[in-house]
Amino acid sequence: MKKKVISEQSRNSQRIKLDVNNMFAEKVGTEHGFTREELNQLQERIRQADLKIRQQRPGFMELPAQSKEVVAEIMALVAEKSGAYDNFVVLGIGGSALGNIALQTALNDPYYNYREEVRQGRPRLFVPDNIDPVRFNSLLEMLELERTAFNVISKSGGTAETMSQFLIARQAVSEQLGAEKVADHFIATTSKDCGYLIEIARREGLKTFVIPDNVGGRFSVLTPVGLVSAAFCGIDIEELLAGAAYMDQLCQTTDLWQNPAYLNGSLQYLAYQQGKPLSVMMPYVHALKDLADWYRQLWAESLGKEVDREGNRVNVGPTPIKALGATDQHSQVQLYMEGPYDKVVTFLEVEDYGVEAQIPTAYRDIQGVSYLGGHSLNQLIQTEKKATELALTARGRLNTTITLPEVNEFTMGQLIYMLELQTALVGELFNIDAFNQPGVELGKHYTYGVLGREGYTHKKKEYEKRPPKSKDLII
Ligand code: PA5
Repeated sequence: MKKKVISEQSRNSQRIKLDVNNMFAEKVGTEHGFTREELNQLQERIRQADLKIRQQRPGFMELPAQSKEVVAEIMALVAEKSGAYDNFVVLGIGGSALGNIALQTALNDPYYNYREEVRQGRPRLFVPDNIDPVRFNSLLEMLELERTAFNVISKSGGTAETMSQFLIARQAVSEQLGAEKVADHFIATTSKDCGYLIEIARREGLKTFVIPDNVGGRFSVLTPVGLVSAAFCGIDIEELLAGAAYMDQLCQTTDLWQNPAYLNGSLQYLAYQQGKPLSVMMPYVHALKDLADWYRQLWAESLGKEVDREGNRVNVGPTPIKALGATDQHSQVQLYMEGPYDKVVTFLEVEDYGVEAQIPTAYRDIQGVSYLGGHSLNQLIQTEKKATELALTARGRLNTTITLPEVNEFTMGQLIYMLELQTALVGELFNIDAFNQPGVELGKHYTYGVLGREGYTHKKKEYEKRPPKSKDLII
């Protein structure tokens, strides 16, 4: 691949912008809006939080700088397998799936899987992110396995959903193509030395990619977890990492007025503390719809915690909500405008959609329709975003806007990194561990017990002793 030379100037013209005007009393009024002074009072805590984050140095912060070899390894595989596959399937769940979907929706044609002329020989992408039997069976029935690659992704290397998907897909490949073909159709992306998946990969001779130990699932989109499928589908993964590195530079300062991750994180934190536990992300760009889904998991699993770092019970955590403009103006905005003052809305918008969809003039005699003629869908959706923003602001509803000059690899890398760092900061402000997820373990352990996994018999017993349901409460 020929290396693109991108100037500093064009990098800066692709810088994403954060507008927090409508979080302040001067715009939304004193009842709900903050003062600059309130934010200044947080400054020392931000410095302390930054220190702690940089001492821990969570793995996602290393990724932009350290991924050169990984990129080369991925690109070598993509080149080696060029033309070999019509389908690329990600087997994984949660943090091992959502980033793949977010990148694909953002950076490839909306109908990529249906448009050969867009794919130009690259595979279609499927990420089931679930174990629903109807959907999974249907996917396997549809795929021509001879022309399909599967990337099995699991950091722990033992997640029941992912391993079940793998066992079913592997059997299908073995039966249809022969057991000796498994290594041609499966890649494993997992931890270097722990979990069952790495053991299986070695036994089967699978190509493997490593998820660094210090990068948690939901922070792993810029590791092979997200990068392999992206590269197979033609996304420029170097530019994604360059975008993340650029944002990392912007976020070196601890001055919260200059650091976008810290400014947004501080405001989200203040909003939560002042009775606004719901955090809505609302892109007015369909391409970012699944980024909002990825963020929902990042925010929820990282910040929803029972205990703080000292073990005190805090039961803290903002509830993330994803919405989509303009669609949800016809579903959610009534509530955001007139319901309780319990939300902060983060709009995502784009300056340049890359295409223009003109609305033709017709029915000149019907004014209620003809006024649309001569405008474009671009103008309509951008105006609707600004109008909704203004309406919310006028009603004292807190909101911020993140603007992308374009949706491209460089801006996506920035946005992902900014949101990850923002999450780490808010974790510090809550004094919780943003990188664990103990709350999901109990349900998993009951499942293991019921399905007979060794070491979980006690959970099976607990499960079987669960109180019976009252019949009169089931109607
Ligand atoms: O963010 C997380 O840690 C989780 O959402 C995990 O990604 C998810 O549970 C899947 O785990 P694993 O990659 O170990 O299969």
